[in-house]
Amino acid sequence: MTSSPRHFLDLWRMESADLRAILDDAKARKAARSGWPKGKVDADAPARDRVLAMIFEKHSTRTRFSFDAAMRQLGGDVIISTSADMQLGRGEPIEDTAKVLSRMVDAVMLRAKVHEDLERLALASSVPVINGLTDKSHPCQILADLLTFEEHLGPVKGRTLAWVGDGNNVCSSFIHAAGKFGFKLNIACPTIYHPDLTDLARASEMQANVVMTDDPKAAVRGADCVITDTWVSMGDTDHEARISAFEPYQVDDGLMDLAAQDAIFLHCLPAHRGEEVTDAVMDGTRSKIWDEAENRLHAQKSILAWCFEAI
Ligand code: CP
Ligand code: NVA
Repeated sequence: MTSSPRHFLDLWRMESADLRAILDDAKARKAARSGWPKGKVDADAPARDRVLAMIFEKHSTRTRFSFDAAMRQLGGDVIISTSADMQLGRGEPIEDTAKVLSRMVDAVMLRAKVHEDLERLALASSVPVINGLTDKSHPCQILADLLTFEEHLGPVKGRTLAWVGDGNNVCSSFIHAAGKFGFKLNIACPTIYHPDLTDLARASEMQANVVMTDDPKAAVRGADCVITDTWVSMGDTDHEARISAFEPYQVDDGLMDLAAQDAIFLHCLPAHRGEEVTDAVMDGTRSKIWDEAENRLHAQKSILAWCFEAI
């Protein structure tokens, strides 16, 4: 009997020790190749002779390029397609797609419109499946964010992170991470755009320290890190209602000044400058968004190495 593949679907399903090991591996791998050309393969090449398929149902810059660069640096290769270019886009069942791809590649990354499709793909796949963002979660992003946090401020355990804005897919993965990594997460969002109740229930089950408020100042006061994201995610249709509901939730220098003195600002990007965040914060000294974007690559490599059982 073959063992089930190591899927990377959501942080709440993962063991804390595995997540910690992935983060530590990312730190070590990044340090080991400091100053190297970006195309040079890591010494241990844990994805040598492996191929990752990437399927995109939505747009992407960071996820697409970081996974591609990650596989090259790990010594492997990639095949990339939009779902629209595949028979999947014409209605071929995702389970059949999973079975076919499992015969051709060693892992599949999916950016899906509907989270359940990711779950269905994983159930039918005999190779690891990675969540490259769904409407419900974005776990790869959070590992890059925590890597960035720890590079600048040290261990995240016991620290306070403040999420300001939409209780969206990225927020949900932060909720999962709060339970797994042991940090406090303050969330400030308008009541109608609160995070998924299932995720808040998961937080309680994990005894995660997650505090909800509709007051951005209360959430940010004394926090080590302030995080926001677009007010209108891919697939959201109520654009105007959102812009007006989120207006009091813009991250500006005044809000950042309430955080801890050495607090950092993170944003998964793409940002809508002048909406959820001002230019001054984006381009200011507290902003670590470019490190964060780079760290998508380093985190991705270690997620892949874990999926390939090299961690
Ligand atoms: N942060 C992030 O996932 O960016 P992309 O949508 O560009 O992949
Ligand atoms: N919440 C955003 C994240 C983009 C990386 C979205 O889903 O569009």
